[in-house]
Amino acid sequence: MCGIVGYIGTQEAKEILISGLERLEYRGYDSAGIATVSEGRLNCVKAKGKLYNLREKLEQTVDNAQIGIGHTRWATHGKPEVHNAHPHLDSYLKVAVVQNGIIENYRELREELKSKGIGFNSETDTEVIPHLISQYLADSNISLLEAVQKTIPHLEGAFAIAVISADNPYELIVARQQAPLTLGFGQGEFFCASDITALVPHTHAVLTLENGEMARLTPLGVEIYTFAGERVSRFPRTLDWNPGQVEKQGFRHYMRKEIYEQPGVVRSSLETYLNPNWKLEENPDFSPINLGFSEQLYDNIDFIQILACGTSWHASLIGKYLLEQVAGVITSVDYASEYRYSPKPVIPHTLIVGVTQSGETADTIAALEMEKARREKLDSKYHAKLLAITNRTESTIGQLCDRIIDTQAGIEIGVAATKTFVAQVMGFYFLALDLAYRRRSLSNERIDSIITGLRSLPDKMEKILETQEDAIEELAHEFVKETEDFIFVGRGINFPIALEGALKLKEISYIHAEGYPAGEMKHGPIALLDSEVPVVAIAMPGSVYEKVISNAQEAKARDARLIGVTSVNAEEAGLTFDDVLNVPEVEELLSPILAVIPLQLLSYHIAAIKGLDVDQPRNLAKSVTVE
Ligand code: AGP
Repeated sequence: MCGIVGYIGTQEAKEILISGLERLEYRGYDSAGIATVSEGRLNCVKAKGKLYNLREKLEQTVDNAQIGIGHTRWATHGKPEVHNAHPHLDSYLKVAVVQNGIIENYRELREELKSKGIGFNSETDTEVIPHLISQYLADSNISLLEAVQKTIPHLEGAFAIAVISADNPYELIVARQQAPLTLGFGQGEFFCASDITALVPHTHAVLTLENGEMARLTPLGVEIYTFAGERVSRFPRTLDWNPGQVEKQGFRHYMRKEIYEQPGVVRSSLETYLNPNWKLEENPDFSPINLGFSEQLYDNIDFIQILACGTSWHASLIGKYLLEQVAGVITSVDYASEYRYSPKPVIPHTLIVGVTQSGETADTIAALEMEKARREKLDSKYHAKLLAITNRTESTIGQLCDRIIDTQAGIEIGVAATKTFVAQVMGFYFLALDLAYRRRSLSNERIDSIITGLRSLPDKMEKILETQEDAIEELAHEFVKETEDFIFVGRGINFPIALEGALKLKEISYIHAEGYPAGEMKHGPIALLDSEVPVVAIAMPGSVYEKVISNAQEAKARDARLIGVTSVNAEEAGLTFDDVLNVPEVEELLSPILAVIPLQLLSYHIAAIKGLDVDQPRNLAKSVTVE
């Protein structure tokens, strides 16, 4: 949560900071602010609410400063009000700080500072930082870098900070402890940001700070140090980046653009991970899947533990289905936020899989770190083999895990995850098939037929987008005024699609929705049903089709309006459903990739017709970097 940016160089900082914040706004949008230094003074402007409020305020100011920091906030400590917006300043108005993360011991620090007569202007955890830095600067003749260095040991928690001072107009100091921070290298100008999206318009030369590192940015260059003060020698890497990924490209919302990117994402993952030389008729003796993992990884995997949150957790539930049913490996999926505090007893020979689109979700990272640390203390057979499934390979999870499946989804801007979900599920198909081949849990013929099915998905996805969207938009109009609740049901591999359909609707349309395994409805939730509560049933032909249809009939008998996501013909579907969201025929094992698309579109259109902020729904953030 929260996005920070910083700039030092020869251009006007103000516009660079604000456009950087625009690219980080997906991380939080409760308030925003910038601070710059010119003529020996700090200029600080903040505004409540979305970034355009800050932009409006800034238009009334003249600021030619060439150094500055900025922040877009997702409120944790203190309400989303101007006085809690970053940057925060010290009492002398000399030091300005922006922070992303949480300073867990801020209460004690605050009391300590108050006892020394220091007054506070906000309720935030961050405000202690400029006061501490300021004290060090006042007490001794030290540099800003040294003052920040002395301050950091006082701070507990996960944080990334950027600091400037009125008395040091040629220095921008940054530090990172378990919250993302990347530096950008230009010609005589340097940048920092919580995410590379804010850097790419200016430079493709970037360096991601590691935990426990800080840096001093000046117009002449960048020096990197450990918190202990040792100089570190590291070099920037060049990003292979398509700036179009962070533009709307004619779409009204990022979410719809990202829904439309899905066939391309699936194509790209198939091109990346299917071995083109694998031909069934040639009886190949190598895996059809090219994840680049050695036999060593797969040797002795007795158990797979998946950790994730939100939509990534839903993708992981499909992953569990695949890993168990296709590869025959017992698999468990846990919410990372729960697992952190109630982990399973350790099982030897375990593959730990972290799934995250941002690569930064605090709970997922912390759960993986905890699992790694507790296993390292034990015999080597218990050591964690860590695998990340993510589209952000440069992120914290990318640094933490020895192996990565890059889902090829690129960056996603809409807060509601769409293409990254589909890409994560694809990652699980590849992992499950690779394991299935190596463990001989499926015949080559069966593997080959699944691969043929996977190859057919992008065209089928395109067909849904081409033929169904108008009808879905029309249907959406019927739920914008009075509908307060929705139920989504599915079974087997499509139960997680029911969960995902409900989450999408909740997040962006603010309509209450629940996802249930269809067979569980009669154990309680069916009591909620009447003519006011639409029920969406994911009824894809296969092992549980008849069961889902029976469960749907039970809902219909309670007057619920029944919407079916199905590939059966119109006549058959019409016997059960009031409305049909049609998808092309596909084998059940692959059906989640198609079934989710009409649900994404339905949520999207309900929210868009309601005039809601589809890409930045209230209270949410794209990257949840706090616990
Ligand atoms: C998805 O639509 C949500 N915005 C949210 O549940 C998200 O999936 C969750 O916060 C996990 O994020 P991650 O994939 O970046 O770890």
